[in-house]
Amino acid sequence: MADLDGAEDTKEYHVDVPQKTEGFYLKGCGNLDWGMKNRLGRVFNPVSGKTVMLAFDHGYFQGPTTGLERVDVSILPLEPYCDTLMVTRGILRSIIPPGTQKPIALRASGGPSILKELSNEQIAVDIDDAVRLNASALAVQVFIGGEYETQSVINMTRLVDAGIRAGIPVMAVTAVGKELARTPRYFRLATRMCAELGAHFIKTYYVEKEFETITSCCPVPIVIAGGKKLPEPDALKMCYNAIQQGAAGVDMGRNIFQAPNPVAMIQAVRAVVHGGETAEKAYQMYKDLGGT
Ligand code: 5RP
Repeated sequence: MADLDGAEDTKEYHVDVPQKTEGFYLKGCGNLDWGMKNRLGRVFNPVSGKTVMLAFDHGYFQGPTTGLERVDVSILPLEPYCDTLMVTRGILRSIIPPGTQKPIALRASGGPSILKELSNEQIAVDIDDAVRLNASALAVQVFIGGEYETQSVINMTRLVDAGIRAGIPVMAVTAVGKELARTPRYFRLATRMCAELGAHFIKTYYVEKEFETITSCCPVPIVIAGGKKLPEPDALKMCYNAIQQGAAGVDMGRNIFQAPNPVAMIQAVRAVVHGGETAEKAYQMYKDLGGT
């Protein structure tokens, strides 16, 4: 009713101000739909374009691995310092407070335990439940060269199709069986295959040689897994090198939650990822924050 009372003259149409058309800051993601970009924008910091994802989904095939015996005790204190929580729906519903403002990367594949052939995974979450849990990303293992290579690739493509319907991006995790060599050539193949088949971002391992060729020929963002526990200076050096060589962040578990001081370690990792801090300065920061 307010517009009928003669207020027409006070309207401002700004006819001489062109509407801004903003690009999108994440590599290869400019043509995605609004909901996808909004969710990716929760995972990847819009200022740095990077992310510190905290991975603690290991129990989905390993059970209560070292550092994750009690997720409420070991992981909840780290929540304020990460950008994204990578978690199974079981731990999410049982332990993570629903009031968290952190985006959720939901583990969406599973099946075999460490006692069996790990590549024999299937999709383990319905897209409806991912929506119900307000997931900002779905994570699926892809075993290129593994015994169940095709099955794991199809898990990924099915999740991508479901994710596109719901507006939820999919992170492909390039899993490497014990029998495969972790070479740059292997990771170029695995990451590129995942991107070509629709993954919106990729998690892969850092390699000392030619990592920049892996990031350069993958058309979507790459985050690195931490892998097995390293001495803290080496883990920070790996983060630094990966960021300098084109990684868009880390999705790190054991090198954070198995550190002597996990709260100090995650802050040191943040300094490298978001602040471009050197490994040496970040390690000093770790010690200053009480790390040993
Ligand atoms: C399982 C995963 C894990 O989340 C992730 O790799 C574990 O992180 P980290 O290697 O840093 O402990 O994807 O395959």
